[in-house]
Amino acid sequence: MPRKLIIDTDPGVDDAIAILMALAASQLDVIALTTVFGNASTDVTTTNALTLLEIADRADIPVARGASKPIASNYIGPVPQVHGHNGLGDAPFPPPQLAPVAETAADFLYAGVAEHAGEVTILALGPLTNLAVALQQHPDLPSLVDEVVIMGGNALVPGNATPVAEANINNDPEAADLVFGADWDVTMVGLDVTHQINLSSAAIKRITIADTPAARLLADALPLYQGFFEARMGIDGIYVHDPSTIAFLLEPGAFTTQAWPIRVETESFSRGKTWPNLGDTDDSAPPAWRGRPRVKVCTDADAQRVLDLVESLLGANQ
Ligand code: BDR
Ligand code: CA
Repeated sequence: MPRKLIIDTDPGVDDAIAILMALAASQLDVIALTTVFGNASTDVTTTNALTLLEIADRADIPVARGASKPIASNYIGPVPQVHGHNGLGDAPFPPPQLAPVAETAADFLYAGVAEHAGEVTILALGPLTNLAVALQQHPDLPSLVDEVVIMGGNALVPGNATPVAEANINNDPEAADLVFGADWDVTMVGLDVTHQINLSSAAIKRITIADTPAARLLADALPLYQGFFEARMGIDGIYVHDPSTIAFLLEPGAFTTQAWPIRVETESFSRGKTWPNLGDTDDSAPPAWRGRPRVKVCTDADAQRVLDLVESLLGANQ
């Protein structure tokens, strides 16, 4: 039985890669996409989610529109220099014919999880606002979910949105602190591992040369994103942030994890930093971490295994 997945996302070029990988993986059954602000506004990310499903010929998968701002602050704003003004590398896609469902992302997510109690994994690829709203509105949500896998955070390495914070967490630190504090099985696939996993320009060429709708979409969407990494980070190719979560779902053995409670800083210039408590047991932990659940934090990855998986799911054989 394929594993049921709800993908909460802010597409986003790397979100697009991850979604296309999930749709291509026979072990995964994507039952819904829910959208959130982040790489672009919620209007834009919702349009992109619909566009992706249309291009992938998966009109059967519903899209629910989510939050357009953080739970306790203002939206920092889009990042056109990374993902383009349209969130898909400024490639000119026609407006989708599909439309979102009427329910909000938080309600739709809860309903989907409740309908298949214990069977649904939530994959969060953007700011954690929708998950936090769902938790606030439906306190029994954690008991109904199989697992939560998050692209976000940085335990032992610097940030990417600020010197100390990763972009998804930085976009809504209060929401992230709620999600890491809830009583469910959470894995954090953060910069600790994604900054180890570099899809080279040669690999991108091999993927985008394929004669498939997914490859053609990525061929159009990737150049601007790739240019950002080359210009700003000095790497050849891209870091595969969101796609690494799909690798974690399919091949968890490619990742090393540690079980640490996480707090998210919400103040001042460290806002958005995910702080693990590395040592103490619960009783002797500092008060801020005491009683917090342990999060599975990815600290190391077999990068080649992840990259091989990205290529095999997006390659010419799809
Ligand atoms: C994360 O932030 C977004 O820009 C990407 O889509 C990814 O989810 C990386 O820090
Ligand atoms: Ca994302």
